[in-house]
Amino acid sequence: MSTAQVILITGVSSGFGRAMAVKLASQGHKVYGTVRRDVEAIPGVTYVTAEVQDEVSVREAVEQVLAAEGRIDVFVNNAGMGIGGPIEFTSLEDASRQMDINFMGMVRFLHYVIPQMRRQGGGKILCFSSIGGLMGLPFQGFYSASKFAIEGYCEALRLELRGKNIDVVLIEPGDFATGFTASRKSSLEPEAYTAYPTYAESLKSIEHDEQSGLKPEFLAEKVAAIIARRHPAYHYIISSLEQRLSVTLKAILPQPWFAAILADYYKLK
Ligand SMILES: NC(=O)c1ccc[n+]([C@@H]2O[C@H](COP(=O)([O-])OP(=O)(O)OC[C@H]3O[C@@H](n4cnc5c(N)ncnc54)[C@H](OP(=O)(O)O)[C@@H]3O)[C@@H](O)[C@H]2O)c1
Repeated sequence: MSTAQVILITGVSSGFGRAMAVKLASQGHKVYGTVRRDVEAIPGVTYVTAEVQDEVSVREAVEQVLAAEGRIDVFVNNAGMGIGGPIEFTSLEDASRQMDINFMGMVRFLHYVIPQMRRQGGGKILCFSSIGGLMGLPFQGFYSASKFAIEGYCEALRLELRGKNIDVVLIEPGDFATGFTASRKSSLEPEAYTAYPTYAESLKSIEHDEQSGLKPEFLAEKVAAIIARRHPAYHYIISSLEQRLSVTLKAILPQPWFAAILADYYKLK
């Protein structure tokens, strides 16, 4: 490994965040991870409390790392959650919460991280999107929207930061077995199931795909390799071959054909 870097990761209490923190700390990096509840210690990882919906808490988390280290070489925006259900049956409050956690949570952190990286003369910013940020997924519409927002923001940010030695990298995972499935909040209204008769089956297959998906340690290995690169690529799809293929198909097939494939996969009428 090259020299130890100061790395701040959001959401290390479980899933990808935890696996990345374990891997990067084992490589000798100085890893800081945000949590919002008591969790088992990870050797070499310093926990920082942060609720991504709370600007003061985010600012204080960044300040805490800077007070200790004076710099942040790598920032990984990982914290996030999913709200599921037909768009029509998602409350406005839940829709807003989805965008606030996944998109604005990242924006809040980067509001404080970008100026620091610019002043220190460089850094790496890794943001967790999803394959759901590359195609609108049925019954995960607001989740997809939050990840599309991350994609648009990062595309612009990358251009603005050209020549400043700051890399902006999108991580686009497919299905992985993490705490994500259990923490998803899905519409439970009986009418959601009668108005959208395929919803229950689709949700079951979404959850099955996640829980039988890849292990977060697989992604952590890839992310560690991306961080070690002098010039990382702009985005990395980390998934099964089948899911990578779906992204290619979306790019090359006429839109109605691709929509028909997705509809068939999700057993929509
Ligand atoms: N698993 C997949 O299949 C998959 C696929 C594509 C993309 N992703 C993305 O990967 C990222 C990590 O998810 P995961 O799969 O590792 O799920 P996870 O195991 O549920 O981990 C999510 C992490 O985010 C934290 N978090 C959630 N809401 C937060 C908030 N309001 N403030 C602070 N922290 C918050 C959680 O903390 P608590 O424990 O306190 O809730 C937890 O540490 C997410 O951005 C997700 O969208 C996941």
